[in-house]
Amino acid sequence: MSTNGHKWNPKGYEEHAHYVYKLGEPLIALLSPTESEKIMDLGCGHGELTLRLMEFECSVTGIDSSPEMVSAANENGVNAVVMKAQELAFNNEFDGIISNAAIHWMTDIDKVLEGCFRSLKPGGRFVGEFGGEGNVGRIVNATARYFENHPELGEFSVPWYFPSVEDFAEDLEHAGFYIEYMELIDRPTPLPTGIKGWLLTFFHGLMSGFTEEQKDSFINEISEILKPELYNKDNGWYADYVRLRFKALK
Ligand code: BEZ
Repeated sequence: MSTNGHKWNPKGYEEHAHYVYKLGEPLIALLSPTESEKIMDLGCGHGELTLRLMEFECSVTGIDSSPEMVSAANENGVNAVVMKAQELAFNNEFDGIISNAAIHWMTDIDKVLEGCFRSLKPGGRFVGEFGGEGNVGRIVNATARYFENHPELGEFSVPWYFPSVEDFAEDLEHAGFYIEYMELIDRPTPLPTGIKGWLLTFFHGLMSGFTEEQKDSFINEISEILKPELYNKDNGWYADYVRLRFKALK
């Protein structure tokens, strides 16, 4: 996945966020890959969704900016290469691109979409799902409040791209795409290892300048703030995900 200085840990992702791949499976139906097609998995991580695609006997190339994730994908038997999403080096090569839970890390979105458009053959399909407007809003708000109360940590600005349907549609069209489908989906998602596991996995980059003590204090305080909103006794913790799902054509 393309990230802003975030260092990925494939084992941690497997433990705390394995559900992300499972939730991406409806995208395969949206792409509807056929045998011998050439498909790119943009932000493939350690390649779980890529493996599902390979069951359709298409030729799949996983792309990820994290060398750790690409090594893990290669070990899983996936053809994956280290490449930044904003520097895709392909021309008219792919029948389809699929991207799950990765685009919100890609802040240079114009370059990313321009590269996707260029990489596809005419008529090629681009399907994806990522954090849309309001995604993890409660977690983001709690984090902003925490930073306000701890000025020694500096200023907090949201480092992810969580666009509205209108803004993302404009970005896709600007790159040349025709939009076939787009929807914002409210999807509260259970967290198998609770909010702490989630913060350790996804806020690793955000906490990279913190001391161990600051990390503990941040995680404990955010968990306390969020408990009344994102925890319930019967089902445990969940994240207030809002997904933007789309299909666009070149
Ligand atoms: C997400 O997958 O929705 C997400 C990932 C990292 C930070 C915030 C949200």
